[in-house]
Amino acid sequence: AARKFFVGGNWKMNGDKATIDGIVGFLNASNGNPNVDIVVAPPAPYLASVKAALQHNIKVAAQNAYKVPKGAFTGEISPAMLKDLGLEWVILGHSERRHVFGETDALIADKTVHALESGLQVVFCIGEKLEEREAGKTKEVNFRQLQAIVDKKVDFSKIVIAYEPVWAIGTGKTASPEQAQEVHAWIREFLKEKVSDAVSASTRVIYGGSVTADNAAELAKKPDIDGFLVGGASLKPDFVKIINARN
Ligand code: G3H
Repeated sequence: AARKFFVGGNWKMNGDKATIDGIVGFLNASNGNPNVDIVVAPPAPYLASVKAALQHNIKVAAQNAYKVPKGAFTGEISPAMLKDLGLEWVILGHSERRHVFGETDALIADKTVHALESGLQVVFCIGEKLEEREAGKTKEVNFRQLQAIVDKKVDFSKIVIAYEPVWAIGTGKTASPEQAQEVHAWIREFLKEKVSDAVSASTRVIYGGSVTADNAAELAKKPDIDGFLVGGASLKPDFVKIINARN
């Protein structure tokens, strides 16, 4: 079966009640798109209110979750809590979690296993830094990050892989469609070799890093780009154009 287009909006640590009302307003006015899985990730304090206000064909994700259900982990939120709010998705392994907060491949793999066990679906983010790309290590870094969850025998039918080259995030330097397609094809080869033909063919691999309404359509034409994880542009009405980039 064809891979359904997936567009995520990662709001990061942005927004307040008034601006979030505005975002929910333009999303609801758009009526979604039946050919696209649309998932937005508000900051944790707004998860419940956004979930309540959004039309049901737009899903809500958390930007992170910890590796156990509850306990003395000040400042953390658990997959069980997200499920309790009726949420279906969590983003894990985002480059800001890896590089600003020092999350390791091992921790992200444990979080992924626990989120899946708890019944959430996971947007699993990977991507190389500029110095790694320049040193010819793009494949090695992305494969290492993926191997951490392959080793855990995760159910890839519940995972969307987001390839987000760190040098393209929030910089305005979007990967060219060719650069993104090259890595997406490598990811699919990796899945074929390490997991199975079926998982390689069916897993959505989405691109993130300075996606805008202007560059989304060209990226979306590439055969192995199955959607986007959008940061800055997901806060603006133009996000609706990105949702509809392939139609
Ligand atoms: O999760 C989203 C990515 O980090 C991309 O962010 O679209 O602001 O570059 P950006």
